[in-house]
Amino acid sequence: MTNHKQSGVLALQWTGHSLKVLDQRQLPEKIVYDEYTDALGVTEAIATMRVRGAPAIGIAAAYGVVLSVYQHYFQSVDNWRQHVLADIQLLAQSRPTAVNLFWALNHMKVVLEGQGGDPRPAILACAEKIHADDIAANYKMGELGADILANAKGILTHCNTGALATGGYGTALGVIRSVYARNPVKIYAGETRPWLQGVRLTVWELAQDEIPVTLIADSAAAWLMKSGAIDWVIVGADRIALNGDVANKIGTYSLAVLAKQHGVKVMVVAPTSTIDGSTKSGDEIEIEQRQQSELLPACYKDNTNVSAWNPVFDVTPAELISAIVTERGVVLNPSEGGVGAFLGI
Ligand code: MRU
Repeated sequence: MTNHKQSGVLALQWTGHSLKVLDQRQLPEKIVYDEYTDALGVTEAIATMRVRGAPAIGIAAAYGVVLSVYQHYFQSVDNWRQHVLADIQLLAQSRPTAVNLFWALNHMKVVLEGQGGDPRPAILACAEKIHADDIAANYKMGELGADILANAKGILTHCNTGALATGGYGTALGVIRSVYARNPVKIYAGETRPWLQGVRLTVWELAQDEIPVTLIADSAAAWLMKSGAIDWVIVGADRIALNGDVANKIGTYSLAVLAKQHGVKVMVVAPTSTIDGSTKSGDEIEIEQRQQSELLPACYKDNTNVSAWNPVFDVTPAELISAIVTERGVVLNPSEGGVGAFLGI
């Protein structure tokens, strides 16, 4: 059993009357928290990627609903519900791929529907439970993943799946933390173009915790695998379809294809809130396209001959995945039976 060391950094802080969001766009240079008191602000914080990472997006949205209830119940004890439902719709439009967003909003909606009197205590309790359950799930997944990786010598991770992307500790990065606590395995992080979650966030988080990490350019992954330095690629997920296909940060699919060529295994670590019971396969998952400007240098802004294609997620087919680790247990070789039966769906 690992003695878990919680990373000091918190992506989200509920103050009792507002949500403080660490602006991840400014990391690692600056630690700046923005404070939000309504759902519109939280929607904007998610859409602009001040807060990002599937579980953290879901938790932020849940607190966004709390803020909406606080605001509208205060303004009208009789007429608050329709305003809150409108805010839930707004929050749902902030980003399309991470299913934890819709999962959290559905949970909040169910609790709302059951409210006759003052909805505030129950709605806050629901958001706090979503938050606390996510942290507990991360610790559990850390243990389960670390058991599988007992003999690993080298691990490559992609994007950021740590405390910054979750309620705390992390999914794939949580497993890496737990493995490292048991056995100082060699850790590599891909820079994760174009938004650089790997270099700006993952490397920073690990450095904060004094866990050694080696950064690679995304394009160095094949050569790293060829060198024999790693035996596992470990990533998180934004949405897992019932057949075990996994949507995650753009570049995950490339890593999985390369891993197959080099005999490297792929582990996906995600709470069951990331499994979408209404999506049969990865073909049905909406892949977010972000602005060209996030990729294209400013000097091409007015050049009509130059454009950028900027999908920010891709889908890795189940057949390229060796294990999906959830807080409820591990699905080995998900292509054999998907994840539906595991969840009882
Ligand atoms: O665009 P982002 O930074 O929100 O993408 C994040 C990822 O793809 C993560 O791997 C995923 O959300 C899992 S985070 C625990």
